[in-house]
Order: sequence, then structure tokens, then C-alpha cells
Amino acid sequence: MSIKKISDGVWSLRSIDWDRRIFDELISLPYGTTYNAYLVKGNDKCALIDSTDPTKTYELINDLKRLKVKVDYVISNHAEQDHSGSIGDVLNLYPDAMVVTNSKCKDFLIDLLHIDSTKFLVVKEGDRLELGSKTLQFKITPWVHWPETMITFLEEEKILFTCDFLGSHIATSELYVADRPLVYLAAKRYYSEVMMPFRNNIKKNIEIVKDIAPKIIAPSHGPVYQDPKFIISAHEEWISDSVKNLVLIPYVSMHGSTKILVDRLTQSLIDLDIEVMQFNLIKTDVGEIATHMVDAATIVLATPTVLLGPHPAAVYATYLVAALKPKTKYFGLIGSFGWGSKVVDMVSNTLSPLKPHIINPVLIKGMPKEEDLKLIDALAIQISELHKNL
Ligand code: FEO
Repeated sequence: MSIKKISDGVWSLRSIDWDRRIFDELISLPYGTTYNAYLVKGNDKCALIDSTDPTKTYELINDLKRLKVKVDYVISNHAEQDHSGSIGDVLNLYPDAMVVTNSKCKDFLIDLLHIDSTKFLVVKEGDRLELGSKTLQFKITPWVHWPETMITFLEEEKILFTCDFLGSHIATSELYVADRPLVYLAAKRYYSEVMMPFRNNIKKNIEIVKDIAPKIIAPSHGPVYQDPKFIISAHEEWISDSVKNLVLIPYVSMHGSTKILVDRLTQSLIDLDIEVMQFNLIKTDVGEIATHMVDAATIVLATPTVLLGPHPAAVYATYLVAALKPKTKYFGLIGSFGWGSKVVDMVSNTLSPLKPHIINPVLIKGMPKEEDLKLIDALAIQISELHKNL
């Protein structure tokens, strides 16, 4: 749909998915997304880097036909279908083309797309592919966010094609970053939902990107970065071990008792000069919470007890926290119950892979009484003391 020239012989072929609002039936996309393929044409050969989502195959095929090129190689940086799902159609259009990727990605593409095993050219770390006046170098960068991920560097123009890595879910017709604050927020949300569980791998792979020192970073979601430092610095901030003096309070309240505790904790924390964010789990997009989990020092989950356990919305939130593995240092748990509760055990078990520091839970019976609220004030003071050591 959108062909934009980046430099001589290099084009972005972008499918813009304005309407997409959910990815993997899990991740909300408030700004839509794009699937970016790139075409690199040397004097002798032509390479397509990644493809597009299967729902947009016709757009990519149209773009290739409009450019009147013959593709010799399809570089596959990542096997997930939003980038690989059109490779079969590209091979049908160019029957002599070969798929260039690493051995792990080859296996995935055979499993996921049934691409014929004879159609592959397997590359390893540092291998180069000569196109004539243009050279592609491949760097293996596992776990951003699958085990087979790699990135491709166009040496002459110093353009780094990173696929998912350093991307953002944002539908835009602009080739380059135009609205920095919006892209920063979209990229942070994307990092939190897709990359955060692999923070240690991201640390290694960011160093690889910095060593390459690209002039342009061209991801396969969202706009291209003419200023690589912008997105590299943002990731360095997110993957660092430092956290902010910020408490997130995801909560559910059925009859108002838990909300009384939430509001008292919020007030006490504000009085102690701690930034607080409340998220009503019934109304809030969990992606918004995930975005702020990137750098919050503390999360206090607030839930009533339902059939002895946390409210199902709180169960879901707890599961996501455990899965996304934020660098959050402290966890709290507050709520009201009627006649009995196993909330503390159940939440602690779910969070156990994080080896969490759980601050004294405050579970109270029924509607909060003044002594219950004093326990909440004490919790706020404990959090404040812990935050002094951040
Ligand atoms: Fe954009 Fe992992 O796919």
C-alpha cells in the first residue's frame, strides 16, 4: 500500500493496518500497526527483507509488481506470521527466489508455513550476502522475542533492519518518526507487552545494535528511525535496573470496600510524595498497566475475595505480571473479604517465579474500619521507606 524510498535501491513496502485493535488475541493495539517489508536492490540481485501479515499479502504483491522488480532472495528475520505469512505468495511470484535465514528460523518456517525445505539458504552469525554494490550482513539476536530472531544490516547505507526489535505498534503513513512523544509511548507499550519478559536478552542485543552503529534503524512495525539514538536510549532506560518512585494499584472492587482501601492507600502515598496510578481492572486495557510496569518500583494489587480466591480480573492481572516479568522491586496485596480468604497464598504462588518481595498484605474483613485504614497508612510508610533505597 505504501512504497517509500529510503535511499537509492532501498524501499520500505509498508502495509498499514489502521483498524487492527488486537494482536495474538491478547495485545491491544490502540494505535493500529504496520507490517514493514523492505526491498534492497543491488546491481546483480534483489532482496526482500521480511514480508507482511497474511491479511495484507495482496498489498505486498501489488507493491512488488508496481516496482517491477524480480526478487532473488527473501530474508526472513523472524518466523512469526505477521512478517513471514506472505513468503509463500512471494515465492509463487518469484519461483527462483530463495529464503535466506538462520537454521532455527528455517525450521519454524517449515513448521508454520510448510515452505519447501529446498527453498532455503541458511546463514550464520556474521555471514554476508552480496547483491552487487550492496551487502547484507546477518547478526543473530535470539529472544527478541522468539528464539530464532536475527537482524540484517545493509553495510553500504548503514541501515539496520531489526524486524520486531525496536519496533512500535502504530499505524502511520509517515516513513520516519514524526511525532516523537507518540512513538515513544507506542514503543514503550510494545516493549512492555512483547519484549519485557526477555529483558536480559534485550540488554545483550542492544549492545550488538550499538556496536553496529547504524545510521538508520528500520523495524518491521511502526516508523523508521533516522535518529537511532532516540530508540536505543529509550530501550536502555527501560532495560536498566533502575525503577521509578511509582506505585501502580491495579484493583477490582465489588461492593466498594476494597476501593476504600485503594483510595486511602493512594492518598497516603501521595502525602508521602510517591507517584501513584490506579487502574480499575474492569475498565482498563491491561496494555496500559503493562506500559507502566516497565519502570514502577512497586505494584499493589487490590482485590476482594471471590470464592476464597482473588477476583478473576485480579487473577488475570497477576498472571500477566508473572508472565511479563517486570523489574518491579516490591509487591503489595490489599483487599476485603467476607468470611474467609486464600488470596495471599494464591497470588504469592502465581508470582513465585519472580521471587517477589511481598510487603505485608493487608486483607480486612468487610467494610474497612478506622484500624484497618491505619494498617493501610502503615503500608504506605513501609513502601516509602523501601523507595528511599531505590
Ligand atoms: Fe511482529 Fe513477533 O511478530
